[in-house]
Amino acid sequence: MPRRSLVVVANRLPLDDNAAPDGACEWRRSPGGLTGALHTILQQAPATWVGWGGGPGPRLPNVGSVRLRPVALTADEQRGYYEGFANSTLWPLYHDAVQQPVFQREWWDTYRAVNQRFAEAAAEVAGRHAAVWVQDYHLQLLPRMLRELRPDLLIGFFMHIPFPPPELFMQLPRRVELLHGMLGADLVGFQREQAAHNLAQLARKLLGAEAADHAIHVGPRTVRTGAFPVSIDVSEMSALATRPDVVAHAGQLRHDLGESKRVLLSVDRLDYTKGIEHRLTAYRELLRDGDVKVRDTVLVQVAVPSRERVESYRDLRDRIEGEVGRINGEYGRVGEPAIHYLNQPFDRAQLAALYRAADVMVVTPLRDGMNLVAKEFVAARGDGSGALVLSEFAGAAAELSTAFLVNPHDLDGLKQTLLRALEADPADLRARMGAMRRHLAEHDIYAWARAYLTALDHTGRLAQRLP
Ligand code: UDP
Ligand code: G6P
Repeated sequence: MPRRSLVVVANRLPLDDNAAPDGACEWRRSPGGLTGALHTILQQAPATWVGWGGGPGPRLPNVGSVRLRPVALTADEQRGYYEGFANSTLWPLYHDAVQQPVFQREWWDTYRAVNQRFAEAAAEVAGRHAAVWVQDYHLQLLPRMLRELRPDLLIGFFMHIPFPPPELFMQLPRRVELLHGMLGADLVGFQREQAAHNLAQLARKLLGAEAADHAIHVGPRTVRTGAFPVSIDVSEMSALATRPDVVAHAGQLRHDLGESKRVLLSVDRLDYTKGIEHRLTAYRELLRDGDVKVRDTVLVQVAVPSRERVESYRDLRDRIEGEVGRINGEYGRVGEPAIHYLNQPFDRAQLAALYRAADVMVVTPLRDGMNLVAKEFVAARGDGSGALVLSEFAGAAAELSTAFLVNPHDLDGLKQTLLRALEADPADLRARMGAMRRHLAEHDIYAWARAYLTALDHTGRLAQRLP
């Protein structure tokens, strides 16, 4: 890997501070794919992570070799920047507008001011000629701001979520500034090639730039772009899934769910992009039609609380909980619910046990940049058993092509695919799982970081910043 010093800038730090009941502060790994992925790779070499700590509290500790540089946000800033522009405007718009994006003018100023503050913090901690790797849609203005403050730095930007086609992006009131912001980077990385193509089209259309899929010319600079699909620590998850306590926990789960039952499992943040409502409707119809029966099949739905200060997330939770209640009310039996609904976070060992205990993993987002849960399930299935039902609209589908791929909007297709997965021949499942496991073995989180950082370093050499 390149030898420059590294600064990562992400909205969240890898740890959240949670007040324990006795008032003490305890540190927990932050939720979501981004922090998990980066936390893992940054253990390899000294680095600094700039991010929002999640709340006031004592100074954050270092995590292994990673120095943390918290950026404090006021309650107003959290509303305008995080809940507002990032998660009510950009997040829904970039996910195919599956939920109506909200455009509120006052959020923009806060978003810009917070990006500026993160840029100043990064400029302060970065050594001369360091590489600064900016993460995700929260900080889309930052690369340009940082370049103005520190032209010596090598600046990377990685978008973990989808980057939309021009028809959608053009709706943004501040589209030109957002584009200029990203293009302040030397290398813009995406999960899928299509996103790089979308950016090139937008740069031509909005900025009149000369742009191909992997190089965009902005004034005297060339910005490189490309696809770098993010992944997981495959060996960590494989090892976890065979740890004796995890194996025992998985056995206990099977026992508690009913030894002879077929277990369907879903694990999502409670987010409207994850397709939870579509999935529940499909499951209700399968029960209604007698295609699955409560006495021999059960669905476990983990729906981790997420962004609960945003109204659309609270509304979604109410709808999901109403629907789970209706389904259990109508089809459950005493001591035998149709759905086990868990609105709480699980740690990695608990998740590994769930992955082991499941027969069919159901990952059916309406749109998802990658979806690491799908990859974790595959990594946890060392014996090659188990079925993965995977949405075509998750980035992971491009890599895990032997999963049972499905269009989650097509209710009948979704129902049929769930049944096919439940009834599949074990030899077919092993062949499918084997191909996915071989792919993941080669494409883990370390390969992702190496590929991106090597490409970033290369752009630095091209620009001849260093000998
Ligand atoms: N996750 C977790 N605890 C939970 C549920 C999820 O630690 O209770 C982790 C999960 O293991 C995965 C990440 O959160 O690594 C979710 O990443 P994904 O890419 O699937 O979706 P995101 O939440 O980032 O949209
Ligand atoms: C997605 C985003 C991340 C985000 C995570 C959890 O993975 O790409 O940037 O951290 O969701 O969301 P949260 O709002 O809790 O940080």
